[in-house]
Amino acid sequence: MNSYQLAEDSKLNQPEFVFGVATSSYQIEGGVNLGGRTASIWDTFCRQPGAVDNGDNGDVACDHFHLWQQDIDMIADLGVDAYRLSIAWPRILPRDGELNPQGLNFYQQIIDACHARGVKVFVTLYHWDLPQYLQDKGGWLNRETAYKFAEYAEVVSAHFGDQIDVYTTLNEPFVAAFLGYRWGVHAPGIKGEREGFLASHHMLLGHGLAMPILRRNAPNAKHGIVFNASPSYPLTPSDQGAADYSEAEGYHWFMDPVLKGEYPFEVVERQSDNMPMILAGDLDLISAPVDYVGINYYTRHVCRYNENGDIVNVEQPSAEHTYIGWEIYPQGLTDLLVRIHQRYEDLPPMYITENGAAGNDELKNGEVVDQQRTRYFQTHLEAVDNAIRQGVDIQGYFAWSLMDNFEWAFGYCQRFGIVHVDYQTQKRTLKHSAIAYRNMLLARKQENQ
Ligand code: FCB
Repeated sequence: MNSYQLAEDSKLNQPEFVFGVATSSYQIEGGVNLGGRTASIWDTFCRQPGAVDNGDNGDVACDHFHLWQQDIDMIADLGVDAYRLSIAWPRILPRDGELNPQGLNFYQQIIDACHARGVKVFVTLYHWDLPQYLQDKGGWLNRETAYKFAEYAEVVSAHFGDQIDVYTTLNEPFVAAFLGYRWGVHAPGIKGEREGFLASHHMLLGHGLAMPILRRNAPNAKHGIVFNASPSYPLTPSDQGAADYSEAEGYHWFMDPVLKGEYPFEVVERQSDNMPMILAGDLDLISAPVDYVGINYYTRHVCRYNENGDIVNVEQPSAEHTYIGWEIYPQGLTDLLVRIHQRYEDLPPMYITENGAAGNDELKNGEVVDQQRTRYFQTHLEAVDNAIRQGVDIQGYFAWSLMDNFEWAFGYCQRFGIVHVDYQTQKRTLKHSAIAYRNMLLARKQENQ
């Protein structure tokens, strides 16, 4: 298959539907000591023995710091409508209160290059690379960091204003808070139940404080937040409660405060010993209206209660999995979008801000034949169309990722790109999944002309 096939009447054919590719700063840029950037928590974490597979780090990554021009050309050649990237906070504010014009300039060039090629720019302010100097003061465990985030949002949006088409405050606060501060498998590597919940509240507060700033400085841009979410299914009917609770902690805990102005009571009850300090007015700030919600989807969970009454995920050995071990379950994306649509009364439009599959792809004779990933995109695009047909308002879809990159604690061995990166030579090669994306976008454009 060299093109994804959209049904003739697919809602994804509508010209306003946005197709894009996504990356994030620490995962692709490299140049960690260049252009005035200082360390982020990921630079520090990668140096802890055993923290990242193979001892990998983001020092060079895809060397996008130097190769951004050819990368933007490649994005434009794919024919996408939009590019989702993130800004590295320690490039913009390398020391507390100190603005780095070189950092602003780096992203200015990228934004200009995208716009010159007719590509819209979706910018995430926080895709996990917290400046290390803020971690030294407690990071997201310190309420002050939420205010620091608002200052950073002020600097970026005052500079770029409406040149950024769509702003995202946070990417996946679940992962940043729980993997980083609760389970310790991501930077900064802190383990503690209370810490995880405290960090999550401060991140959401940062989001809430940033929203009015972004609106003031970029009144014509759209503003929102991105959540990762997986639908959970009970292993047996008696595990329904386990599945429900898994969704409550997995994404209601993060989405409810933003979209309903309250934390889900199941979590408040079950985690009563671990609840953060919530000050009067916090939830009003956090629930300021957003223009859109971004959803990152990769897989589902199947849950059950174990002997101790704990909730555990159950592997599905007979199902198909990607190289990283995540079950391929496209129906989960439709179910998830419908569940979200049903749960939130004032739900704004959604974008699928990430969706994709990991492989251990190899380049052979100049080609990467990534059949599983190509099938993954085909079936997940259909899943999005199915959700729209059930009345869910979805306005765009971003493939994760533009190119192979630093996959956090997995390092470079998990390749999520639709473009292959040879890390020795930094050569980029379009995989079959990218060629199929390009062909689909081309066909769609011709039809819409
Ligand atoms: C998401 C992250 C993204 C990437 C994918 C595979 O959790 O937002 O940076 O690592 O997973």
